[in-house]
Amino acid sequence: MSPMNDVLTVHGGTPLVGSLQVRGAKNLVSKAMVAALLGDEPSVLRNVPQIRDVAVVSGLLELHGVQVEEVPGPEGELRLDPSKVIQAHVADIDAHAGSSRIPILFCGPLLHRLGEAFIPDLGGCRIGDRPINYHMDVLRQFGAVVEKEPNGIAIRAPQRLKGTKLSLQYPSVGATEQVLLTSVLAEGVTELTNAAIEPEIMDLIAVLQKMGAIISYEPNRVILIEGVDTLRGYDHRCIFDRNEAASWACAALATDGDIFVGGAKQQEMLTFLNVYRKAGGEFDIHEDGIRFRRGGPLKPVVVETDVHPGFMTDWQQPLIVALTQAEGRSIVHETVYENRLGFTEALVQMGADIVVHPEGIDSPDRRVPRRALEQAAVINGPTPLHGADVEVPDLRGGYSYLIAALAAEGESVVRNVGIIRRGYEKLFTKLDALGADFDVIG
Ligand code: EPU
Repeated sequence: MSPMNDVLTVHGGTPLVGSLQVRGAKNLVSKAMVAALLGDEPSVLRNVPQIRDVAVVSGLLELHGVQVEEVPGPEGELRLDPSKVIQAHVADIDAHAGSSRIPILFCGPLLHRLGEAFIPDLGGCRIGDRPINYHMDVLRQFGAVVEKEPNGIAIRAPQRLKGTKLSLQYPSVGATEQVLLTSVLAEGVTELTNAAIEPEIMDLIAVLQKMGAIISYEPNRVILIEGVDTLRGYDHRCIFDRNEAASWACAALATDGDIFVGGAKQQEMLTFLNVYRKAGGEFDIHEDGIRFRRGGPLKPVVVETDVHPGFMTDWQQPLIVALTQAEGRSIVHETVYENRLGFTEALVQMGADIVVHPEGIDSPDRRVPRRALEQAAVINGPTPLHGADVEVPDLRGGYSYLIAALAAEGESVVRNVGIIRRGYEKLFTKLDALGADFDVIG
């Protein structure tokens, strides 16, 4: 049986018009919450959205003895007191497995605080294998002992972890965060090359610096961390969620609407905004947000997803919905994950002309070096979309179904909407405010 609020009927064909507010980035908030474990006094995180990922991390922190208090009010304030950190019961952590990949980032802080950590088999979105080999290699290089057990991985620090020289095979966001959260209390200096430099990572560095860490960002993806003996608490306002902002921007494009996204900032979205403009979108930058709409007929684009400062893998799904309405052939090369175009099947069911090339395709003028795991989607437009019965596969793919249903003629049924609400705060309230015509039926 599906949980409550999990199935929507959507009556499409009406442009989404209005304004909404985005708050702290899902992909920073959870990491900043874990960072609180490193401090020897309470921390305060502000601008925290009410999304399921935050509840999951709160639950995991509580299992480890951290007191988490949500302060009522518009600030989105979370207080985290790590003064009594304990080892959680394996069965309890395991009950959280499958709901999030965040437990992996508890390793460094727990090794420092308790000398051991247990990581249950991990969940997260089904968008590829999502291995954790980089994370384990990183922990081993700091001196941790990693052992596979039947339902997860046990990690121990026989002595204080030691700073080290590391180079990532690929600038992985999670592995870079692993290094940051582990190195700050390690003995000596850590040098990380080929680091991810996403704005959310820079914001995590800001959090850690507030706690007393010494971290410098050098040219060419190098991060230097000088370990310290103790860290204090932090008071931090999270960077805005640029993925959510891009999602609503694409919703405006796909439905021929006009959406003001409060809290969105230009600097962190430069690459997205360039593509948006080339695809026929228009935007006005304001002090307090960005207004998105069409600037004329939609035009085809060629996009390669990449690590920052490239075009994010989380932006391609809603953009593809808009590209079904562009006049001509667009290509999206997905180079970050090995299985992130499967969601397009449902768009085809709704009338889109999209062909996925599972091995990727060659095309001239590539910017991102070709990767073995990449795939490509070729989108021919414009094609009218019609309603269908679709089931959400993952967070970003699911959001794209929602806006496809809103852009389509007729009625759609969108199932498994709970996955979308994992990362989009007040989804139904925001849709309502934009004039979307939908009913929650189950
Ligand atoms: N990878 C490995 N081994 C590892 C770790 C990663 O091979 O140990 C590979 C992955 O399989 C993938 C590539 O490296 O092919 C990049 O993965 P990365 O580690 O950068 O991603 P992540 O940290 O798991 C975060 C976000 C994702 C976002 C990516 C890329 C969080 C919680 N998740 O994932 O967000 O797509 O970075 O920016 O921060 C989402 O918000 O919907 C989402 C999936």
